[in-house]
Amino acid sequence: LLDVVMPRQFPWATMRRRPPGLWRYREALPLGATAEPVALGEPETPLVDISAGGPRVYLKLDFLFPTGSFKDRGAAVLMTKARELRVARVIEDSSGNAGAAIAAYAAAAAISAGIYVPEGASPAKVAQIQRYGASVVQVPGSRADTARAAMEAAQAAYYASHVWNPFFLEGTKTVAFELWEQLGRRVPDWVITPVGHGTMVLGLSKGFLHLRDAGMTDAVPRLVGVQAATCAPLVQGSRGDLTLPPVVEPGVTQADGIAVGQPTRWRQILRAIADSAGFWTAVSEEEIRESHLAWARRGLLIEPTSATATAAYQRLAAEGVFGGHQRVVVVVTGSGIKTASQRL
Ligand SMILES: Cc1ncc(COP(=O)(O)O)c(C=O)c1O
Repeated sequence: LLDVVMPRQFPWATMRRRPPGLWRYREALPLGATAEPVALGEPETPLVDISAGGPRVYLKLDFLFPTGSFKDRGAAVLMTKARELRVARVIEDSSGNAGAAIAAYAAAAAISAGIYVPEGASPAKVAQIQRYGASVVQVPGSRADTARAAMEAAQAAYYASHVWNPFFLEGTKTVAFELWEQLGRRVPDWVITPVGHGTMVLGLSKGFLHLRDAGMTDAVPRLVGVQAATCAPLVQGSRGDLTLPPVVEPGVTQADGIAVGQPTRWRQILRAIADSAGFWTAVSEEEIRESHLAWARRGLLIEPTSATATAAYQRLAAEGVFGGHQRVVVVVTGSGIKTASQRL
């Protein structure tokens, strides 16, 4: 596994003069000075105050991107890098949202894309990927079989994997910069997010540490990682001192975006949560369903995968985990429109 190490610069006086959105932070991104962003109009995603007395609570609507999930942050930066490197073809493997994001940004960059998906991936997400012009290869067997097939194909192409390619995480880290800015150039006390392969939680961790090392904040938020109880290798792994990767056989879950039985970056993810003084929690299928429905009844259709985080917030708030003066952000990672026709 590789990581990008770059100077912790954050020239705010220059950045603030640009339009809002992830490209305003380009000095904090590992792109050449002349690299032209592969852009599809990425907004600064809204931060909505849902406080109801007690702590200040915000939803970060990070699904309001062109393809309907936060994965566009990673895909936009990764495909910008790929174009800078004059890549002609990329390979990615994904159960849905990351594949759609890579397919869309590959199309925007005029790079051909092959997306490997496990057989049984959400038909709506597969159709979305195909519509962007990517070739889709459905691989029988497990998610790990899909990854193996993609890696083989990537011998002859650029592996634009959201899991392995470190430029993806450089894109997702911009969510931390936006939160800092939207909260009046202060970081929140807590951030709650779903975790599968960890691109959001690692992005949050990298972004907040970047801000701290650049002198923009003294503190970093405590990160809460949420998994579905039927597929929670990291929740289990966080309980012991591991030398081997945590592995589970994914059970049935509505949270298909985080049904990852063997997270590749497990060590890094566990460390990110522990170093932030955060913790892990698992939510049941009933909690996911209830939270998904409750938000839909308030007008916000969120992906069931994202409802793991809203459900966890609900329970933790009831348990009194958050202090009255604290600021809590729940990241809403995916749009519910893609999965609206699925049975709950
Ligand atoms: C909607 C949604 N939320 C959260 C995640 C979790 O992201 P990660 O697997 O990078 O931890 C995913 C991953 O696909 C997703 O699709």
